[in-house]
Amino acid sequence: MKNTVWWKNAVIYQIYPRSFMDSNNDGIGDLQGIISKLDYIKWLGVDAIWLCPVYKSPNDDNGYDISDYTDIMDEFGTMQDMDQLLEEAKKRDIKIIMDMVFNHSSDEHKWFIESRKSKDNPYRDYYIWRDPVDGKEPNELGSVFSGSAWQYDETTGQYYLHMFSKRQPDLNWENAKVRNKIVDVVKFWVNKGVSGFRLDMIELLGKVPDEMITANGPKLHDYIKQLYSEGFNCNGKGDEIVTVGECWAADTKEALKYTDPENKELSMVFQFEHSALDEIPGKGKWALKPMELGELKKVINKWQLDYEKGWNALFWDNHDLPRIVSRFGNDKEYRIESAKMLALYLYGLKGTPFLYQGEELGMTNVKFPSIDDYKDIEIINMYNEKIAEGVDEKEIMKSIYAKGRDNARTPMQWSDETNAGFTKGTPWLKVNENYKEINVEKEMKDDNSVLHFYQKLIRIRKNVLCIREGNYLPVLNEDKDIAAYTRNIDGQGILVIANFHNGTKKISLPEYEVKKILASNYNRFDFDLKAVDIQPYEAIMLEI
Ligand code: GLC
Ligand code: CA
Repeated sequence: MKNTVWWKNAVIYQIYPRSFMDSNNDGIGDLQGIISKLDYIKWLGVDAIWLCPVYKSPNDDNGYDISDYTDIMDEFGTMQDMDQLLEEAKKRDIKIIMDMVFNHSSDEHKWFIESRKSKDNPYRDYYIWRDPVDGKEPNELGSVFSGSAWQYDETTGQYYLHMFSKRQPDLNWENAKVRNKIVDVVKFWVNKGVSGFRLDMIELLGKVPDEMITANGPKLHDYIKQLYSEGFNCNGKGDEIVTVGECWAADTKEALKYTDPENKELSMVFQFEHSALDEIPGKGKWALKPMELGELKKVINKWQLDYEKGWNALFWDNHDLPRIVSRFGNDKEYRIESAKMLALYLYGLKGTPFLYQGEELGMTNVKFPSIDDYKDIEIINMYNEKIAEGVDEKEIMKSIYAKGRDNARTPMQWSDETNAGFTKGTPWLKVNENYKEINVEKEMKDDNSVLHFYQKLIRIRKNVLCIREGNYLPVLNEDKDIAAYTRNIDGQGILVIANFHNGTKKISLPEYEVKKILASNYNRFDFDLKAVDIQPYEAIMLEI
């Protein structure tokens, strides 16, 4: 294999600690729980773990509201547990990537506690304060979690900005002191030996709230360059630190600004174009529409072809998104087939795959009967807002079932024991009732499980050079049901064919010659490209 940075050859496993494994039966996942499952993660064949926030936090947004960037949340354990996790992971050759929330802190962070005390407090300018306009909010900026992005604070008679919950005040990146403090946080974790950072809502750092500019503000890239030069590269090994920015507003051009190696900013961005295909454009995530395969192909083609100088982060699931098998697959009669199909389609693409806990089992969305069963602040705020607007409750629940973030946050399903083996206590969020059917223990024993299929795909990625480096070319591009592509380099090639629908379909691709079947979710040992009936949700990866 060609020499390259480690993360281009990696598969990264995302852990949402609260829901992964509970070691002390208080119903909340924790660091010791993760340590107890490292052998499982190793078995999958992944190279690194992206750890969602584990820092001190009052948990208004499950850890994305940080009150101390260099200490551990009590519910998850101690800094000693964190050190042990780093050590145990290292023994198994697994790297740790920290999730960093630099756009905002918790309102319980000492900076904010000071900041709100008085207008001349030394920490006042760590946050974004504005005078009322005509006795009201400074402007119309809205919070991602519903309502205004401005919160009035009585003590000083001003508003502060919060792009998310009012308990997540936005940091003022214009202030050099803030930037320096954040650089110190990065250094702290680099010096601890972590291998990278996932950067929460990084696109918002350059915001100009007075001009209603939020993402991709004018100074954004200066700030990230400083994070790189003084933070990620603090010990001169910045190229070995993997950094992935969460960038909802990035198109390929914008993404390249962050990731062009010459710019010395980030390794990759998470872009979400494919993830917006089942919402009505411009109406936000809760306005549902079916995804059309043609649109998905357009997006994938664009990112595979027009972003050559960059490097894609490949993903279906994360802790904010619904489960992919319930979304673009069929979680009823074809759950296993469609979960494998989606995996195979993604794992042949160029980029670094991110695998979210439970995705490797084909875990599905949930439908809890009552809003009281839901814990996510985004869901609850949206629900209350729509109820107040008079929207029918059934309609609201339909959106929550399709798109709510708690779909991805139900406890990991380890076994068919009580609470799926996640805890002996009461889980903080209910377990999906299908855990007796879908769980690690059962899938481990079954060579045909989704779990074994993921393990196999991860292995294939490591062994087939053209998956890492090969050129991407769409095949059957006009087909409305089937997505297909080739990857080619140095005379080596693969062909991937994936049926996104539940019907059978004849195809013919006589121009390719099958050398070997690398992976097939229908366990085919023979595949005639001259004429073949593709089965419902069938997918195959061929060496050609
Ligand atoms: C990101 C996180 C999400 C969080 C938000 C605010 O989108 O992924 O979970 O709620 O930022 O920090
Ligand atoms: Ca616990």
